[in-house]
Amino acid sequence: MSGKILVTGGLGFIGSHTVVALQQQGYDVVIIDNLSNSSIDVLAGITRITEKTPEFEKLDLRDKSSVKDFFEKYTDIAGVIHFAASKAVGESVQNPLLYYENNLASLIYLLQELSKKEQANFIFSSSCTVYGQADELPIKEESPVKKAESPYGNTKQIGEEIIVDTCKVAEGLKAISLRYFNPIGAHESAEIGELPLGTPQNLVPFITQTAIGKREQLSVFGNDYPTEDGTCIRDYIHVMDLAEAHVAALTRLLENKEAPKYEVFNLGTGKGSSVLEVVNSFERATGEKLNYKIAPRREGDVIAAYADTTKANEVLGWKAETDLDTSLASAWKWEVKVKEAEAAES
Ligand SMILES: NC(=O)c1ccc[n+]([C@@H]2O[C@H](COP(=O)([O-])OP(=O)(O)OC[C@H]3O[C@@H](n4cnc5c(N)ncnc54)[C@H](O)[C@@H]3O)[C@@H](O)[C@H]2O)c1
Repeated sequence: MSGKILVTGGLGFIGSHTVVALQQQGYDVVIIDNLSNSSIDVLAGITRITEKTPEFEKLDLRDKSSVKDFFEKYTDIAGVIHFAASKAVGESVQNPLLYYENNLASLIYLLQELSKKEQANFIFSSSCTVYGQADELPIKEESPVKKAESPYGNTKQIGEEIIVDTCKVAEGLKAISLRYFNPIGAHESAEIGELPLGTPQNLVPFITQTAIGKREQLSVFGNDYPTEDGTCIRDYIHVMDLAEAHVAALTRLLENKEAPKYEVFNLGTGKGSSVLEVVNSFERATGEKLNYKIAPRREGDVIAAYADTTKANEVLGWKAETDLDTSLASAWKWEVKVKEAEAAES
């Protein structure tokens, strides 16, 4: 394959794992990241796994002229995987303009540059939040997009619409939106993983931080939902499975000339797990005992969401392979490694 793959947000959680998967399948990668939610050390972690250092440009995608300069410097970008965004739902409610600016201006500036090209291939990080509480489970791609519950969710919906409209007029542009369910875990080497700043918003980092002693107790928000054990159900997908799906989607864009100009795929395992099932799985996989309590329901939580993955399985030829115990064991291995690194520093 000629040409490089630009991975924006490539030092972040999902981006770094995707860079590993891309390099391992022979792609040349250049990363853009402004380090607003990641560390430059991730570059070394990637290199230890793949034995190849990706190119790196520290750049803020909100700076339109820097984005333009980037494409003037790198004229051989064959595909773009766009992870860079702000992603904390609660923060987006407090600071909506930060989210609209960071998540939408960055997308627009990238698409403006790509629209000028004869051929461009674009993959967008979307989210299952676009479905809200779906009327039918498992959730298919055709499920209606519900009114967004937060500015963050809205940026994903508007982002998808911006891409659809741009694909209609930019002749050479093809794009895929990938709607992730709940990415968890870390690379099996524990060289890279998830590094939440502040209090984790997601269940699994909260679990591992509680088990390691950084947090006192996990709160399980609500056990009176209409599910088997009363707790909310989500579809937890291992981050390396998610990374492989990006490679499959990119390969489709690069190699399948018949592929439609715009497509959407759900990325999940297809299996829903309740919060208590995740807690039990974590204890089983790691031998750690978790301190948790049942707390009142949290506003805005949907009851259950899990993916119908038929389309991704059939069209991308991809399937999530990692089970929940293995995913949680990898998250734990990473948390232990982070603690060791912190202890060595202090
Ligand atoms: N993690 C999840 O649970 C989840 C679920 C659904 C969708 N997503 C989406 O997937 C993408 C990646 O998520 P993640 O969990 O890896 O997040 P992350 O915060 O770990 O990674 C995002 C990276 O983008 C960088 N970045 C942010 N704004 C930038 C800017 N203006 N210019 C350059 N770099 C910038 C950050 O420094 C960070 O390294 C995001 O678009 C997110 O909304 C994530």
